[in-house]
Amino acid sequence: MAISWNKNLETGIQIVDSQHKALVDKLNQFFEACMQKKGKDELMSMIRFLENYVVFHFKTEEDIMQRHKFSGYTLHKTMHDEFIKEFLKIKDRFEKEGATLELVNSTTKFLTNWLIEHISKIDKQLSGLK
Ligand SMILES: [Fe+2]
Repeated sequence: MAISWNKNLETGIQIVDSQHKALVDKLNQFFEACMQKKGKDELMSMIRFLENYVVFHFKTEEDIMQRHKFSGYTLHKTMHDEFIKEFLKIKDRFEKEGATLELVNSTTKFLTNWLIEHISKIDKQLSGLK
């Protein structure tokens, strides 16, 4: 299972779109590594990379919203914060349980659904901000 990039995910803000594409690539690499049953060290280092990248990317979006005094800022930031909380729980489970089939499946589903839903409905609201 992989996330495929499509035009519906574009916000029109170049930096946001290029970070989203990079994030999708990194997530797909992580899903692939899970499927190939890569070792814990490799998976954990990918998870840590994703965590850092997500934090960095959310900050980029939040800075743009703040610069434009965007009215949806607080709600959007809350969604980012909630996601990071969920992501940290997933990271913790991988650390403790290892990449069990159940964990890999639920994680893949959650990350894919959240990202597509968030980009196509929430990030799209940023279209027009530069
Ligand atoms: Fe966002």
